[in-house]
Parts: sequence; C-alpha cells; structure tokens
Amino acid sequence: MKIQKIKKSTASFDAISTDLFCFGLEKNNDKSSTLELADNHFSGSINKAITLEGFSGKSGKDLLVYGNDNIKRIHISGLGKTDKIDLELLRTVGAKISAKANNIKCETLTIDAESFNLTIDDNLQAFCEGLVLGSYEFLDYKSKVKNANTLTTVLIHGNVTESALITGKVLGESVSFSRDLGNHPPNILTPTLLSQKAEEIAKADNFTFTSIDVSEFENMGMGSFYGVARGATTPAKLILADYKGGGDEAPFALVGKGLTFDSGGISLKPGARMDEMKFDMCGSATVMGVMNAVAELQPKINIIFAIGSTENMPDGDAQRPGDIVTAYNGKTIEILNTDAEGRLVLADVLSYVEDKYKPSGMMDFATLTGAVLVALGDKASGVMGNNDDLMNDVKSASESTMERVWELPLWEEYSKDIKSKIADIKNLGKAGKAGTIAAGVFLKEFVNETPWVHMDIAATAWGPTTPSYMPKSGATGVAVRLVYKLIQNRVK
Ligand code: BES
Ligand code: MG
Ligand code: ZN
Repeated sequence: MKIQKIKKSTASFDAISTDLFCFGLEKNNDKSSTLELADNHFSGSINKAITLEGFSGKSGKDLLVYGNDNIKRIHISGLGKTDKIDLELLRTVGAKISAKANNIKCETLTIDAESFNLTIDDNLQAFCEGLVLGSYEFLDYKSKVKNANTLTTVLIHGNVTESALITGKVLGESVSFSRDLGNHPPNILTPTLLSQKAEEIAKADNFTFTSIDVSEFENMGMGSFYGVARGATTPAKLILADYKGGGDEAPFALVGKGLTFDSGGISLKPGARMDEMKFDMCGSATVMGVMNAVAELQPKINIIFAIGSTENMPDGDAQRPGDIVTAYNGKTIEILNTDAEGRLVLADVLSYVEDKYKPSGMMDFATLTGAVLVALGDKASGVMGNNDDLMNDVKSASESTMERVWELPLWEEYSKDIKSKIADIKNLGKAGKAGTIAAGVFLKEFVNETPWVHMDIAATAWGPTTPSYMPKSGATGVAVRLVYKLIQNRVK
C-alpha cells in the first residue's frame, strides 16, 4: 500500500484514534508542551518510560510506549541537539517513522507537529517528503505479495500550513513515480510506454503534449538521435510537453536521456550487470518526476519537458563504429563507439529544444558516463555548464534538498579531445581520461548562448541506499526535489 492521505488535524487527544502517535524529543532541551500534554493524558506513563530507559533524545534513538484502545502506541524519536536539527534530519526522521509504522503493521499514524518543529513550513515539507519516501516499495511484478506496506493514513497534529504539507507529499510521490519508472523492466517500459505516461501527466491544466515518432527523425534533421534509434525494433520517441503556468516569459527547459535499454549497440557491453542498463532512462525519469510535481502543484512558470527515448540495440541495421551522422544543428559526428549513445541522443534534443522554444535556461539529466562513478562515487552527481549564474542556482537548490552535486570544468582544452579527423567532432574523448568531461564538452557543442547545466546522474540514479529515505534497492528518483526547488526559486 502507498500512503493515501496526509492531512492536518487539530482534534483533542480524546478524539484521536491512531495506531501510532509520534513525538520528537530534543537532546538537552525541555520537552515540548504537547509531549507533556500526552504524558498527562496517559497518567505519567510516558515520562516514566523516558526515565526508566534513560532516553535522552539522542539522534537516531527512539522509544516505544504502549497507550490505550484509541491511541495504541506512542513513539518518541530522538532528534539530537537543537542546533543540529535541519531539513535533512527531519526528512530522515520522517522516513524512519513511516518505515517503523510499516514494520509494526500500522495503518494510521499521527505526528505531533510541535515537538518535531513542523510549524515551520520548510520543516513540514521535508518531513512529509520523508514520510512518503520511507514508505516506498516496488511490488508491481510480484505475483504474490507478502509483507506489503500497511500505512495508509497520516495525520499531522497541530497548527501547520496545509500547502507545505501538500508540497511535501506531492514531491515524495513525484520522486516515487520517478523511481517506479526506473524500476520497470525494459521489455515493459519502452519509449512508447514512457511517452504514454508523459501524455497521461500532460492531461493536467496548462500542458500541451507532442510525441514525435522515429519515422520523422531523419526528415527533421535529427541524424544523431536517429543513428542511435535505428538498431531498435521498438520505435524511438521524442517526447515534448509544454507547460505554460507563467504567462509570456521564455520557458525553462528540462531535457532527459531516456534510453529504456542500453546494450551498447554494435560496441556491445559485457554481459555482467547489463540488466542494470534498464536504468539508462533515469534522466527521463527525473524529468517525468518533476513534470508530475508541476502538474499537481501548478507553479507560475513556463517549462518545456523534453525526453529523447530509445533502446540502443545491436542489429543488422544498427549504427556502426565509423559511421558519420549529421546532427540537428548541422554538425557532423564520427561515431567511434556506439555505446557512447546518450550524448548522441541529447545532442539533437538539446539543439532542437533551444531552436524551437528559445528557453531562458536549460538543464539536462543523463546516466551518461561510467566515469562519473570513478570521479565522485555515488555521493554526488556531476554537473557541468556554460553559465555561472545558473550553475550557482543549481548548487543552492542542491544544498536545500541535500541532493549533492559537484562541478567539473568544461574548459576549451578538453574540447580538443573530441575533434575528429574526418568529421567535425567524434563521440569519444581520450581513452581513460576525464570521460565525464568529454561527454560534457560534446553536449556543449549543441548549446549556443542559452544558459545550460548538464547533470550526469550515472552514479546516483540507482544504487545508493542511504540515507533512510532512499530505497533499499533500485532507482532513487535523484534530482526531482532539487529541480522542483530550482523551479520554485525561479518563479517571479
Ligand atoms: N549508459 C552508459 C553509462 C553508464 C555506464 C551508466 C555504467 C551507468 C553505469 C553510457 O551510454 C555509456 O555506455 N557510456 C560509456 C561511454 C564510453 C563508451 C565513452 C561508458 O561510460 O562506458
Ligand atoms: Mg552506452
Ligand atoms: Zn547509455
């Protein structure tokens, strides 16, 4: 089960009926007045348990006390020292609480707002994100489900702002949606299904939706994208959703790599862990997650959502190493490795979006290089771009959502490495040298003056299992929250 409802409640203790009532306790600080009230309500048994167990409110520790027929259990989360309580801590505490509630088979949960400091809107939002994400599970392909999550209803008890609660819930759900997309198997999640799912979201207010089939790519001049798509039997799609929530201003553009399976093509990948290349559409899953949040929350801004989606397959008609293709912006590309396909897809999508929509800024998201895992591990996504202002905006959004990014340079010197002997550029840099940057300078060839940031999420899109709001396995839904924050900061 997913959490169905997160709602505000101001009922009196007598009127509350819940499986688990949760409070926070700060270390070295007085108990909140609500916790004292609860203690009175249960005739001092909460304080007794706190003393008996020597519970100090240390971060990461918790305490469970049994209640009565209406409030079945009381749970106290240690929050640590007051000055260490931040959004990330509350997000992780939210996730731990919903995991705990599912573990002990609770259906309803009540959260005391005051003791968790949730009367501050940003805190409430982060906490609700954590609640939803801590309850994430992916069971679509289990024919018999054992131990599915039980938690369906959360009441936030106290004087809280409902819009912050809703934003947190929607963002948690949008990240979950992004994870689901990543986790679906490649025989099911084809470019066609991805396109249908985008179309479904675009039924919300203020969207116009278009999906362009592979049969049109050559006519449109998208030879680079076409080269990757030609080996696949399932048709490639260029998915475009135009959201107009902000009047006449130029839109911001979000571009995603949507390789629903990357076998490497004729430059076939080795067999080990090739199954993980179903996750090669996680850039598009980030874009779709943000799209879901935008559809629900309707921010006052214009946004273009663009996804280049195909499989990369070996075939009698597949692209060969040695082929030369012409991209949408007229540049010729020598294909030296058909496995460096993401940059070829993004090249055409980036230049098409820049040309058609004249965006005020662009970001792209792509599981682009194995090299980014070597450079940064799975703790940060690699970011590169052509504009310091937009880069700083990305970094500051990243700090508030704790989805870490680290900038790599796109200096001119690196561009020399992608010069081709017989075409304008080639799709490879120097072997073993700065592979993530080589892909970055390649993309830069397809963006003119538009401020642009590229995010390589190859190491962060699946795999990480900490902190507590990350899934136990599979896709993470990385950067959905970051991008939504960036959007909020751009709303005038
Ligand atoms: N989708 C891969 C990148 C990737 C590899 C992501 C492993 C996550 C884990 C991309 O299309 C690719 O194959 N890149 C090559 C580029 C190389 C041929 C220059 C890579 O990173 O090995
Ligand atoms: Mg590849
Ligand atoms: Zn790929």
